[in-house]
Amino acid sequence: MMTIPKKLLLSPLFQQGGYTLLRNWLPPDFVAALVAEAREQKALARSVNISKSDSELVRGGSPARKFLNAPGGEVQRSLYENRTAMQAIASLTQLPIAPTGSGGTFSYYCRPGDYLTIHRDIVACDVAVITCLEEEGIASSGGKLCVYPTRVRESLPQVRRNPTQGAVPLRLAPGETVVLFGGLVPHCTLPVTVGQNRVVSLLCYRAIVE
Ligand SMILES: [Fe+2]
Repeated sequence: MMTIPKKLLLSPLFQQGGYTLLRNWLPPDFVAALVAEAREQKALARSVNISKSDSELVRGGSPARKFLNAPGGEVQRSLYENRTAMQAIASLTQLPIAPTGSGGTFSYYCRPGDYLTIHRDIVACDVAVITCLEEEGIASSGGKLCVYPTRVRESLPQVRRNPTQGAVPLRLAPGETVVLFGGLVPHCTLPVTVGQNRVVSLLCYRAIVE
């Protein structure tokens, strides 16, 4: 059984499942600039390919995954460090947040079978801000972000053993953002299918709960 800090229990975002979908949070011209940056940064992308999760029970560790990963650039950083954006996120969580300092990344699920298994984010990353930049060639549930809001107290192996129970699959359209207590709510990206291309911007913030 996982212990959840009291301040998190009281957070409105936690009480509504630990995630929320923001449809018009970012202006279209900013999204377009972020899409362009993600395309440029793909030249720097590294392939991550881990076929078996490690034995981590709670958060972080090394979940099984396969995708391309690239560092963000100036456009993404301007969002990451934007005070108004941080205030908007903090108003959802009702907790002070701070950048983890390591900057953001872009993830590219662009080859058949690219995925990220059920996990919780690393200790520094309490609040994940995931913005969909490209979502093409959709087939069935491939590439969906799947969250498990009712299973926050279970260990990762427990959730992985029964991955359909409590799963809430989300399909983000380009420009849409999910704010997620990623260090608390188990989540995954379902494998993309042939011809699918899903690109996301990922920002991580620390939530100050003490
Ligand atoms: Fe994550």
